[in-house]
This record gives sequence, C-alpha cells and structure tokens, in this order.
Amino acid sequence: MKSIALIGFMGTGKTTIGKALAERLHMPFVDLDAVIVEEQQMEIDEIFARYGETQFRSMEHDALCRAAARENTIISPGGGAVLQAENRAVLNKHCCVISLSARPEVILERVDADDTVRPVLEHRLPGQTKLARIKEVLESRAAYYQEAAYCIDTSEQSVEQLTEQIVQWLTEQNQ
Ligand code: S3P
Repeated sequence: MKSIALIGFMGTGKTTIGKALAERLHMPFVDLDAVIVEEQQMEIDEIFARYGETQFRSMEHDALCRAAARENTIISPGGGAVLQAENRAVLNKHCCVISLSARPEVILERVDADDTVRPVLEHRLPGQTKLARIKEVLESRAAYYQEAAYCIDTSEQSVEQLTEQIVQWLTEQNQ
C-alpha cells in the first residue's frame, strides 16, 4: 500500500491525527519535523535562526524524499513542505495525499497551546497580530493545500471522529 501523507497548515492536527491514524491502521508514523530535529540535534526555530529558512527547506526536502520512498507509512510533513514544487511532485507520486484544514482562530489557539516555536508565525510586521499572520500565510498556501485528493476540516470534530472519516474515505478508495 502507498504511504499516506497528511499535509496542512501548522496547527491543523497533522501530528495528532497522523499518530491516531497510524495506530488505527497499524502503520508506522513519521513526522518530518521530528526527523529533522533528531538528525540536526536542534529545534526547528534554532535551525531557522542558525542556517536560515532556505537551508531548513532543503533538509525538509531531503527528509521527505527518504520518507516517501517507504511504503505503508503515515507521513506528516511540516506545513510549508508544499511550497516546493519538487515536494508536491514527490508527495503526489508516492503518497495518497490528505489535506487537513482548520479555521484561523482554531489554528491560533492550537499553536499557542504548544511549546513549539514556529518561526514562520513569529516573523511578523510591526503591529501585525499572530492571527493576521496566520491568515496571510494561509492564504498564500491555500491553493497547494486544496490540491489534495481529500480535504478535511479539523476545527470541530474529535480526533476519533476525524480518524474514522479518513479511514472510511481510504476504504472507499480501495487503499
Ligand atoms: C512550518 C511548519 C512547521 C515547521 C516549520 C515551518 C511552515 O511544521 O516545519 O516551523 O512553514 O508552515 P508544523 O506544520 O508541523 O507546525
């Protein structure tokens, strides 16, 4: 079976739902940010600060290519992985791509509730709120997230409900 990639903006539930889906389908789960952190022995915000975003994107591309070469795996790329055309091509070629979305206000709540520093959201114009930044970046990426075979909004339903809906959709696709 092809691997399943969960794409989507930060805070849409890629890691949480990815883990639940992996457990439900008895498949391994690979979080690309976690792979990069482990390999670099550095948090993502530190990598951005030390090497810059371009270098981070190159690490992300490398980690994605290695993960996508595996079969029967649930992959969670960082929210910006879809920005590179090469990454979108790798995802579409090797994975069944599912897109998670959420309302900007829900995203804000979720990203504020965890300890991970997201440099893309910290990079704001003077006076720009985090919510405004979320909306701005979301809008610039919306088309890429919408390209997926299946899109699901995670704002309201529980992890269990969302996981079941994804499993049902996969079953309908004969995955
Ligand atoms: C990013 C999302 C983050 C992480 C990095 C950049 C982005 O991953 O890869 O901070 O550009 O959207 P999550 O989507 O897992 O938060």
